[in-house]
Amino acid sequence: MKAAQITEYGDKSVLKTVVDAPKPKAAAGQVLVAVHAAAVNPFDWKVREGQAQAYVPLKFPATLGSDFAGVIEELGEGVNGLSVGMEVYGQANALGGEGSFAEFVPVKAESVAPKPKKLDFVTAAALPLAGVSTYQALVEEANLQAGQKVLIHGGAGGIGSYAIQLAKHLKAYVATTAAADDADFVKNLGADEVIDYTSQDFSTLLQDYDVVYDTVGGDTYTKSYQVLKPGGILISMTEQPNEELAAQHQVTAIAQQTRTTTERLTKLAELVDQGAIKPQIDKVFPLEEASQALAYIQEGKHRGKVVIKVN
Ligand SMILES: NC(=O)c1ccc[n+]([C@@H]2O[C@H](COP(=O)([O-])OP(=O)(O)OC[C@H]3O[C@@H](n4cnc5c(N)ncnc54)[C@H](OP(=O)(O)O)[C@@H]3O)[C@@H](O)[C@H]2O)c1
Repeated sequence: MKAAQITEYGDKSVLKTVVDAPKPKAAAGQVLVAVHAAAVNPFDWKVREGQAQAYVPLKFPATLGSDFAGVIEELGEGVNGLSVGMEVYGQANALGGEGSFAEFVPVKAESVAPKPKKLDFVTAAALPLAGVSTYQALVEEANLQAGQKVLIHGGAGGIGSYAIQLAKHLKAYVATTAAADDADFVKNLGADEVIDYTSQDFSTLLQDYDVVYDTVGGDTYTKSYQVLKPGGILISMTEQPNEELAAQHQVTAIAQQTRTTTERLTKLAELVDQGAIKPQIDKVFPLEEASQALAYIQEGKHRGKVVIKVN
């Protein structure tokens, strides 16, 4: 089968689409999915560079990729509630060596759900990791309520573009940080207030926020404590809590580890089907150009999501 693989860690030159990768099988508790489309996340180029090798070293050749949408081809032993031919979406194990940038991917049944009915495969593939991250953060962790104020860092990115839409659906007031040329994009998603992070300091402009959702990290993260009201919550996708700042500002700080489960994917699909969230697709690459797709995300010029069309 065709698959985008690496045989060593490195820059974009190490990711190559081959045509003779062996077709994987569904192990117990897994389904084998015929992949129609797979989305790219920053994690994918980080894995390609070897940033995860200290805790999970890859066995080479390794097929990269986690997000996917496709059709179930085979059921592993002990899988219930799913059937061959079902249209699904979900997240494969990007560190298992058998990722989703391929014609077939084996996935744990608990990381799969029926795909949103209203979306085609390319658009559905853009949802799992970024969409579930957003749902887990704003609904489950922050319990964001109508009338509350939320600051979303990186509003034009994969996660940010979902977070703005979900926060507006929940009837919150949304401020977001984005580069000036992304201002129209984030306003069209519903942002009430846009701060150009290249020329303005959000921490001097905003105050008394209930929630900050940080997808950026670094100084942006550290300064975020200042804009929260006492009792507020700071959820970061990239940073560990700073206990000293949390105590000083009387806020809760959480480092999120996203877990893409059937339950969360199902909730997300409902939100999509009721029109609350629409994936923003920047660019679609063929599987043969998987290397360019990851490089494009790494350059950081994208708005929303980048997808690889497989079949
Ligand atoms: N912990 C977890 O379980 C987990 C799960 C998923 C993702 N993540 C991590 O979360 C992060 C975000 O993921 P993503 O998919 O949303 O990435 P993304 O699509 O690359 O989006 C990041 C966005 O942040 C913007 N940005 C960069 N610097 C900024 C700044 N100083 N202020 C405001 N915005 C800034 C970028 O805009 P420009 O175009 O202007 O650079 C881009 O739009 C990544 O590091 C990813 O690895 C963690």
